[in-house]
Amino acid sequence: MRKTAPVFHDEQTGSWHVFRYDDVQRVLSEFATFSSRMGGDNGSGSGQLFASSLIVTDPPRHRQLRSLVTQAFTPKAVDALTPRIQGLTDELLQGIQARGSADLIKELAYPLPVIVISELMGIPAQDRERFKYWSDVIVSQTRTGSATEEHYAANTEITEYFLALIDQRRSRPGKDLISVLLSAEIDGQKLTVPELLGFCALLLVAGNETTTNLIGNAVLCLTEKPGTIERLLTEQALLPPTIEEVLRFRSPVQSMYRMTVAEATLGEDVIPAGAPVVAWIGSANRDERHFERPAEFDVDRGQNRHLAFGHGIHFCLGAPLARLEARIALAALLSRLPGLTLAPEARLERMESTIVYGLKELPV
Ligand code: HEM
Repeated sequence: MRKTAPVFHDEQTGSWHVFRYDDVQRVLSEFATFSSRMGGDNGSGSGQLFASSLIVTDPPRHRQLRSLVTQAFTPKAVDALTPRIQGLTDELLQGIQARGSADLIKELAYPLPVIVISELMGIPAQDRERFKYWSDVIVSQTRTGSATEEHYAANTEITEYFLALIDQRRSRPGKDLISVLLSAEIDGQKLTVPELLGFCALLLVAGNETTTNLIGNAVLCLTEKPGTIERLLTEQALLPPTIEEVLRFRSPVQSMYRMTVAEATLGEDVIPAGAPVVAWIGSANRDERHFERPAEFDVDRGQNRHLAFGHGIHFCLGAPLARLEARIALAALLSRLPGLTLAPEARLERMESTIVYGLKELPV
């Protein structure tokens, strides 16, 4: 598509699909033309939950909302979480090390980010299972784009749960993110309840499956390329660039949506105003105009300006946290299981989605 139809109009759905790096970067960052406002419910039942969240907001409101949470996600604030993430990772790995085999998605890549984000938001530990179930349901909705009775029921339950938690924190504030958001003011105004709900739902989804997939995709890349694990065991400095290369090569988020609010010219194509646009991050990250040998997983790539965390004002708020979790999880995994290989019977299946990219299971 990058070569023959870099800007493709799907006449059946009306959507425009953008595949080249420069175009994807423009679509993600030129908010005056490509709006993040998707407008209300998308038919899946979860639209209302996200309708007032950061990710579907344009400036000036976007900047105001984002400024309320940036402090919690700066590299410095996130670094302070290192001992807790390390401790959690060690706990999760103990059982795996004793047994010598595991489904790494289920036993490490999945629980780690869920527990970390639950703790940041002050979700009581006993509610974590329910929280995990709801976040799965929301993600499966965003994957399939269609809703079932289960989706509607889960959306109602999540909304009620967060409303009760918000009420509780209002009367007994803590140090968690929900309490921070409750006390925050923009121009003397508190956040509205839909905005508070939007934050909760967004953090629940954004912090969850994406990081799971980064860790899972990393293990897949490492076990596929002989010699990489051995090098990582002796060269600690190689881990951060390896994670960046996983983000480029197997991007956990493959596509993001925008809506044109004015006519836009991309190369020879003109996209009219009011059109849905899909920016293919996964394709941009393999654009031969930007990356040499893009189809090769190369940890020695050097400069790696991938778009896996987006670009511009909506650049992923959780990027420092996702990178830290991946770094700690992979370092601990390799030092405890240096002979890591895929289980011989492993049948690797990708999740069915055009948005998120990851494996259903990863038996090692
Ligand atoms: C935004 C990817 C982890 C919170 C984004 C965007 C991408 C992305 C591509 C841009 C969306 C857009 O342009 O519309 C990822 C990937 C992750 C990850 C690949 C893991 C490997 C996280 C984590 C958190 C998080 C751990 C929080 C705990 C957010 C938020 C936004 C966002 C709040 C919206 C920012 C805004 O609209 O200003 N993420 N993300 N993400 N991400 Fe992440």
